[in-house]
Amino acid sequence: MTMNEPAKPTIPCKFPWDSAYISPNGDVRHCCSTNLNRIGTLKENTLEEIWNGPLYQKIRKHVAAGEFDKAFCSPTCEGLRSGEGYPWSPLQKGAPAMEANQRRGEENFRRGAEHADHLPLHLCVEFSDACNFRCVMCLYDFIPPYNSVPKDGVDQVLKMAKYANRVALMGGEVFANKPDLRFLSEYDPPEGGRMGFITNASRLDDAMLEFLTKFKRIDMTISIDGFTKETFEKIRVRGRFELVDANIRRMVAKSHEVAALGHAWNVRLGTVVMRSNLADLANAVRYAAALGIAVEFGPVKGFHLIDENIFIYQDTLEATGDWRGHMAAAHKALEEAPADYAHKDVVARGLNLIQEYLDRPKMRVYPGLRAALKRLIRSDKDLGHVFGLYFDWRHEGVPLTTTVHYATIKVMRRLSRKLALGPKRTLAHAEADVVPAP
Ligand SMILES: C[S@@+](CC[C@H](N)C(=O)[O-])C[C@H]1O[C@@H](n2cnc3c(N)ncnc32)[C@H](O)[C@@H]1O
Ligand code: SF4
Repeated sequence: MTMNEPAKPTIPCKFPWDSAYISPNGDVRHCCSTNLNRIGTLKENTLEEIWNGPLYQKIRKHVAAGEFDKAFCSPTCEGLRSGEGYPWSPLQKGAPAMEANQRRGEENFRRGAEHADHLPLHLCVEFSDACNFRCVMCLYDFIPPYNSVPKDGVDQVLKMAKYANRVALMGGEVFANKPDLRFLSEYDPPEGGRMGFITNASRLDDAMLEFLTKFKRIDMTISIDGFTKETFEKIRVRGRFELVDANIRRMVAKSHEVAALGHAWNVRLGTVVMRSNLADLANAVRYAAALGIAVEFGPVKGFHLIDENIFIYQDTLEATGDWRGHMAAAHKALEEAPADYAHKDVVARGLNLIQEYLDRPKMRVYPGLRAALKRLIRSDKDLGHVFGLYFDWRHEGVPLTTTVHYATIKVMRRLSRKLALGPKRTLAHAEADVVPAP
């Protein structure tokens, strides 16, 4: 840059140059707050073709220009809303090819290049939605057929993953379904590469932990939404509290054991906050503090979860009883955590985030209206879409035309998917995608 050349404004969001999110049905997107269902699909194109296809390029162009609506960004994106954006991450040291990819990526990001001559740095993959649990809030439908990225899609991810500095497996139950297990056995991560997991921890037995020692750097989020047997098993249907609790302890112990070998395994808990567990947050804090690991709290998502979503529905929040008291108890538990508990800041941030969401405007759904609409619109998810449209317009300031536009795209896509499904698979096919417990 010369003295007279004005400095380029920093691009607020790194995702179009950084990430590829792959869904179990093969859809590819650059982030989870886009209004697009997909930028491309592995059923029609390779991952490399999609990465530099017309839509990825269009999104890069508009994000670089700060034209977020033209880039299909959701106005409810947290980074946009807070003004903090998603800045480029510092260089992650490791294999030369992985470092070179990051350097090229950063240069492309800084100059807002539409064509990316680097590969994704971050691969977030849901290879399958097959799972051995049926959590009450889970956004998967669990209606056969299950979705799984086809074999050649797994091959493509394996090829690209050699250059990525982080691969995160987060779909279905990663340690129970076949494409994830295949990926894990064939993937040889680059030196310094980070392997991420989101898991229900039901399959983390000794043999699995021994197998995982091939990964030197692990970021594992263990989802646990209840800290008594009763709450856990009410939410994490088909899960057994004693088993998951034992596996969490096993994983934490293993992370200490492998640290002596130079491995960096970062284990944390992830709790989705909802009506059924708001009163349990103090237990969550005590549980995590006793194990010396972080617990992250996130709000339950989904307008269709009328009986659980305390962040949208006023009556549901009030049904938790003294909700301010539940939050205060969680803060008190954190104050009482041992002085050497290293994750107080993370936990406090999570609790504050929940508080912030609880303080946002909510809507009431009168039982008569709900029953009448339910007779008209039979699917819970579609009923949720209707409430979502109203909420976005009324409380989030989203113009009605924008919301209706995206709703139409979604309905049309669902219709065409239904028509294209082909021969109906049975529950037996779906269950066959899950590897039976040993
Ligand atoms: C779909 S799961 C897949 C990974 C794994 N089976 C698990 O439960 O950890 C990924 C994450 O989404 C969270 N989740 C599920 N339903 C959710 C919802 N309605 N709102 C917010 N998070 C949700 C889960 O708790 C989990 O942490
Ligand atoms: S364990 Fe994860 S994928 Fe399975 S039902 Fe629960 S949230 Fe969904």
